[in-house]
Amino acid sequence: MNNVWSEHVQGVMTLYLSRKLRFDDLFSGKYLSLFSLDQEKELKILEIGCGPGALAEALHRWYPRAKITGIDRDTNFIEFARENVEGVAFLEGDITALPFPNESFDVVISNTVQEHIEPEIFWNEQRRVLKPGGICLCLSSRRSIQCAAPCLADSPEETEFWNRCPDLKAEMEKYGVGRFGLTEAELPAAMEAHGFLDVTTGYAVTDLTPDDPKYPKEFAERIIEGRRQNDLEAVYRTCSLWKTAEEKEAFDRMLEQINQKHDERLSLFRCGEKQWDTEVNLTMILRGIK
Ligand SMILES: C[S@@+](CC[C@H](N)C(=O)[O-])C[C@H]1O[C@@H](n2cnc3c(N)ncnc32)[C@H](O)[C@@H]1O
Repeated sequence: MNNVWSEHVQGVMTLYLSRKLRFDDLFSGKYLSLFSLDQEKELKILEIGCGPGALAEALHRWYPRAKITGIDRDTNFIEFARENVEGVAFLEGDITALPFPNESFDVVISNTVQEHIEPEIFWNEQRRVLKPGGICLCLSSRRSIQCAAPCLADSPEETEFWNRCPDLKAEMEKYGVGRFGLTEAELPAAMEAHGFLDVTTGYAVTDLTPDDPKYPKEFAERIIEGRRQNDLEAVYRTCSLWKTAEEKEAFDRMLEQINQKHDERLSLFRCGEKQWDTEVNLTMILRGIK
């Protein structure tokens, strides 16, 4: 049983909802063209470090003939994925020693995993389980632009709360999060250095702006709810570090305030009063052949 990631780094729902937006069919065109996989083939696809399963879920929609397996060592993620994601086999396990024979997959894919795993092991394990001519796809989250809705601005009480909070960044460093991060130039070079051929790079942009009329209402509301989840989780995380009764009261007030603000955001959206808050993410997609 290992719940390090879901309990100390990113919670199940926060990760699942944010990735579900990022891998929505609205953005599938760019992913499909950069992945460049045959949608008609019965490919065996492995997703390593699959978290709660949102990318594997999208792959199942985009490649309905493929046989998809997701593996992650976090028990909470795998339990959630098994209950909520259809058409994918999920396995709890360590991606630094993949429990699969050599040459058993046509495609191995990962999203925001490379930077957490020792590079030799990260690339070599994927190469080992890929069939000759198999494809490695490495997705890496790069820059982002974030602009909050005016109605979500921190109240003086919230500002004071955040100023008093322990440093969550230091907490994450304890778990080695992002310790092997590479630049946009180092990533393809590392892939080549580990024996992958015909390496290509490309970028997919997901722009999450609920007030933009190009988005269906249901999608826009999911963006707003994803942000609520993100903000609530930030409070829950500090909750697990602070324990006195007085602190507990401050947490409860924070949760109430955050919920009120996001309720207001939702009602402004529903009555057409625009806030133009946005979050833009840039994902780098590397593709190499064994
Ligand atoms: C940033 S999260 C990304 C999760 C998922 N790919 C997504 O985008 O939602 C990194 C994931 O790698 C997993 N992970 C890290 N080291 C691992 C290891 N040695 N074996 C299996 N999974 C690992 C974590 O549990 C976590 O789910």
